[in-house]
Amino acid sequence: PGAKLYSANCQSCHQATGQGIPGAFPPLTHLDKVVQAKGGREYLIRVVLYGLQGSLTVEGKTYNGVMPPFRQLKDQEVADLLNHILTTFAKSKAKPISAEEVKAQRARALSPQEVLKSRPPVK
Ligand code: HEM
Repeated sequence: PGAKLYSANCQSCHQATGQGIPGAFPPLTHLDKVVQAKGGREYLIRVVLYGLQGSLTVEGKTYNGVMPPFRQLKDQEVADLLNHILTTFAKSKAKPISAEEVKAQRARALSPQEVLKSRPPVK
């Protein structure tokens, strides 16, 4: 289910294999490092629910873009989407993200700038 959600919602910016477009849209292939870091699971869920804005360095390249929020997706859809990205693009073996974890982040009403501030410090 995650693959379809990815192609419908994310692929136009992050590209078919999650490699992104250097300088414009960051890759998603490094996200095992993010999901394993303290606060990383919550951060990834927040990015999808609330969007992201501000200066971000990924794999040595700096992005200063705006990602829109996807709060219309259901809790299970956000979980499926992130699990697809993590296993397929990032080759992550982290415990899958659950709908309950998504639900816990939904009650917060964070700005895209606040989401960026909650990013764990990984390059
Ligand atoms: C950043 C996922 C859709 C543009 C990110 C990050 C994630 C992500 C996890 C943060 C990477 C990190 O912190 O290392 C997704 C998912 C999407 C999606 C799952 C589909 C639901 C989009 C779309 C666009 C976009 C459609 C373009 C309109 C961006 C940009 C950033 C970003 C510009 C960096 C923002 C900044 O510079 O602060 N995305 N994305 N994303 N995404 Fe997406």
